[in-house]
Amino acid sequence: MEFSSSKSNEKEDHRSDLKTLNLYNEIISTLPKRKGWKSDELYHYQGFWHDFFNLEGLLSAQQHFKPQTNDIILSSFPKTGTTWLKALSFAIMTRSSFDISASPLLTTMPHECVLSLEGALAHNSFHRNQDTPLIGTHVPYTSLPKSMIDSGCKIIYICRDPKDTFVSLWQFARNASLKGVDSSTSEVVDLEKAFELFCDGVTYYGPYWDHVLGYWKASLESPERILFLKFEDLKKEALFYVKKMAEFVGYPFSLKEEEKGMVQKIVDLCSFQNLSELEVNKTGHLHGNLFEKRLFFRKGETGDWKNYLTSTMATRLDQITEQKLRSSGLTFNA
Ligand code: A3P
Repeated sequence: MEFSSSKSNEKEDHRSDLKTLNLYNEIISTLPKRKGWKSDELYHYQGFWHDFFNLEGLLSAQQHFKPQTNDIILSSFPKTGTTWLKALSFAIMTRSSFDISASPLLTTMPHECVLSLEGALAHNSFHRNQDTPLIGTHVPYTSLPKSMIDSGCKIIYICRDPKDTFVSLWQFARNASLKGVDSSTSEVVDLEKAFELFCDGVTYYGPYWDHVLGYWKASLESPERILFLKFEDLKKEALFYVKKMAEFVGYPFSLKEEEKGMVQKIVDLCSFQNLSELEVNKTGHLHGNLFEKRLFFRKGETGDWKNYLTSTMATRLDQITEQKLRSSGLTFNA
């Protein structure tokens, strides 16, 4: 992946980056905060809880992000299928440039093919690969940069049953050892405590239900602009949803492509089994210094919550979901 920028531009960017970072530090220090699942603090901003690094990125994106007219935003709450969505969208959009057997997905992790708005992009002065109009984000709908909403760019949102989301998130947090970070400061709270915080909405990008509802309501208002997907539906009917995604982003499969089995090839390329066994996804850390790549591929199943939650916990989450989503028309069933 190549990014075009001159050296002098980089210097300028760096100076202004440092100035604005100090400003963001000041803003963040005034926000309500609470301890999250680890020893780090979560900050309450525009109705949601954020860790420092990504909140800094979000503030920067709200101020500086300039969308391209053809941008497509891949949005999700963490652990609801972001990696899968990125892989599928990337494969759909690059299929005319690369043969499936030479897809960049075979040698580059989905999170490096599609960079995160508030993560990698915001912390690198929004330098991006101009060839791929895909951008990932966990930012809630109501906090997306105004420039993004005004540009009318399309959004694909994926969500997942909250019980599986919680378990996946807890497993990830528990196993994630940040490179260079002392393990005693990155230790995660136990399942019961994490569960209480999740129910209270105090988790990265939480409350979960508000995150989902923001995109759900927006998708009902503008279905031509926001495609709303569920992990469970994608598992059950991958071919159908991959075709739907391709149509939505303006890259529909031709009859000839369908006859040649292109849709199935993309589904297979991006399957949990295929991606999780690729060397590029098994070894190394993301962006050189963050999470181990292999942690993004755990089981890839629906209903794994049954192995971790007591029936009381499951009923409690179901009741919160029922109460929060009541009358929205949105339901989950994993
Ligand atoms: P589990 O922990 O339940 O296995 P995210 O990509 O948003 O971080 O979500 C991670 C979850 O998606 C993990 O769920 C992971 O195993 C699963 N996952 C990753 N790639 C997948 C794929 N290609 N197909 C299905 N599930 C996938």
